[in-house]
Amino acid sequence: MQKKTLGFLVINKKHENTYITEIAKRSEPYNIECVRFEPTSIDPTSLMITGEKFEPKAQQWVDTSFSIPSFIYDRCFYNNQQASKKGKPIVEWLKKNPTTTFLGFGLPDKWKLYTSLLNDQTIDPYLPPTELLNDSIQVIKHLKLSGPCILKPIHGSRGVGIIAVKQSSDSITVTYHKGHDKKHKVFSSLKDLSKWCEKLILQQPYLLQPYLPLTDANNYPFDIRLFMQKDRNGEWHLIEKGVRKGYHGSFLSNLNSGGDPLRFQDWSQDLTHKQKYLLEDELSTIIDCLPPLLEEKFKQLFEIGVDIGYAKDGSIWILDINSKPGRKTFTKTNPHLKEQLYKAPLEYCQYLSKYNNVKGVETND
Ligand SMILES: Nc1ncnc2c1ncn2[C@@H]1O[C@H](COP(=O)(O)OP(=O)(O)O)[C@@H](O)[C@H]1O
Ligand SMILES: [Mg+2]
Repeated sequence: MQKKTLGFLVINKKHENTYITEIAKRSEPYNIECVRFEPTSIDPTSLMITGEKFEPKAQQWVDTSFSIPSFIYDRCFYNNQQASKKGKPIVEWLKKNPTTTFLGFGLPDKWKLYTSLLNDQTIDPYLPPTELLNDSIQVIKHLKLSGPCILKPIHGSRGVGIIAVKQSSDSITVTYHKGHDKKHKVFSSLKDLSKWCEKLILQQPYLLQPYLPLTDANNYPFDIRLFMQKDRNGEWHLIEKGVRKGYHGSFLSNLNSGGDPLRFQDWSQDLTHKQKYLLEDELSTIIDCLPPLLEEKFKQLFEIGVDIGYAKDGSIWILDINSKPGRKTFTKTNPHLKEQLYKAPLEYCQYLSKYNNVKGVETND
């Protein structure tokens, strides 16, 4: 059988180095060659790529050039930074290139995702009511009629740029994180808040959601992270669920913003039997329905990480769906999962390659 090449698309060569190298170390028995490269390293005329290839004998990466690999595992995060902005159109072009297959095609921004899932009978009840923020009046109205709210950048990830807005009798406080640290801004009038909001919207598009009471009995913010992936037969499975707990007084549970991972089993020990049953039941509905629904609405995916909010009244909310999920929440608390996680992209790649061959035979007929 012809050797396949799996290309890791990265923001820079050291990006997710451990994860990618551990996959590459296991690639030989699968007859897969591993390369890694940045989107901007493709020569637009020759279509040759300058990057690195993993040498199984030496067990290390070496500089080289190669043609577009047969499979691509896209691990790039596209934020507002220059390097990722430049890369995005190139990746969009690569996705349309018939000589390569992406393991997963990613998901659109948070607003498109929300509006696409909104009318699905099963998933809709789990979506927090969300508005696209066009005008500061929406924030003021929300504070007045429903209470505190959360503003979320539609292209955001890892808790970056999320803002909580709360009103008290004589002022309005906005809170956000800078890494682990929490920062505040206090406005003495709605007019001042309004001016600040208008400036904010000009920087990047935001969503507005109610501030949900997603803290535990001791007032620590937390969320449940579901990690789902396709197996060697292209079938979806829940690989693990974990809990991320933010620090006291924070409102984000992202690891990047100071959160710590916990094992779901350990965390759920504090729940009553009934709470546990109801939670597990609702989670399994989401686990069964969400991946096929996403693939129906968008394109093929290999894995997703879903952030679930579990509010004080027992209600369950889908806060966020990530097509390039991190693995730290699970590997830190379940090191035995690592082996499976490192092999999964290779096994899925093998599945895709068989599937592509079958497709080829059908077209020839
Ligand atoms: N509506 C909300 N109310 C309260 N907390 C929220 C809300 N939405 C998100 N959070 C908290 O903020 C964190 C990050 O939000 P999320 O939507 O996952 O954005 P990101 O893409 O930045 O991870 C969540 O994990 C949760 O802890
Ligand atoms: Mg998230």
